[in-house]
Amino acid sequence: MCKAFIFDLDGVITDTAELHYQAWQRMADEEGYYFDREINEKLRGVSRQASLNIILNGKTISEEKFETLMTRKNGYYVELLNTISAKDILPGIESFLLELKARGIKVALASASKNARPILHRLGLTSLFDAIGDGWSVKRSKPAPDVFIHAAGQVGVNVDECIVVEDAEAGIDAAIDAGMRVVGIGPDERVGHATWRFTDTKSMNLGDILG
Ligand code: BG6
Ligand code: MG
Repeated sequence: MCKAFIFDLDGVITDTAELHYQAWQRMADEEGYYFDREINEKLRGVSRQASLNIILNGKTISEEKFETLMTRKNGYYVELLNTISAKDILPGIESFLLELKARGIKVALASASKNARPILHRLGLTSLFDAIGDGWSVKRSKPAPDVFIHAAGQVGVNVDECIVVEDAEAGIDAAIDAGMRVVGIGPDERVGHATWRFTDTKSMNLGDILG
């Protein structure tokens, strides 16, 4: 039985990984920290704080500097977000959301991002969501299950009646820990532990998932 679908945002509804990459790269270059696309892959699905720790790679900096760097990177990222619009919704997502609505299945968001609400708004998708869980909703980020449990609570659906859609290893771990079934989007080595797997959003099929 499925009463709610809970979606991750970055990499599932829209592909912001490139924008995060550009913003972190700009900050890293200014600070003389090594950063590249391979390291950026490790930031998929993890919080802003955890991302900076990965980039620092053991380097210690003061708490104040840490905060300053996160704020600066976010400023660059928010600047880049001004360029996104409905054209950046990943293929197949809008029709998938409409199909869920037509079947009376609740739709929620569970993102690690503190920018999730403005991003959904820019994409023109806010009205399709019954609830939004984001980086402000819970203290512990993915791989902790908290944001998924929060979203399920918001739509009033038991965890075993929720299906999550995720592209990140940390997100799939979080959904499983929440007691939910999960659709993985991406390669086997990243999302192979999901209940179902599709290579990309356009091949995701509700019939295959609901049986
Ligand atoms: C996740 C992204 O959705 O949000 C991560 O996959 C990002 O890469 C995280 O670090 C936090 O985002 P933000 O917008 O709060 O810095
Ligand atoms: Mg993601």
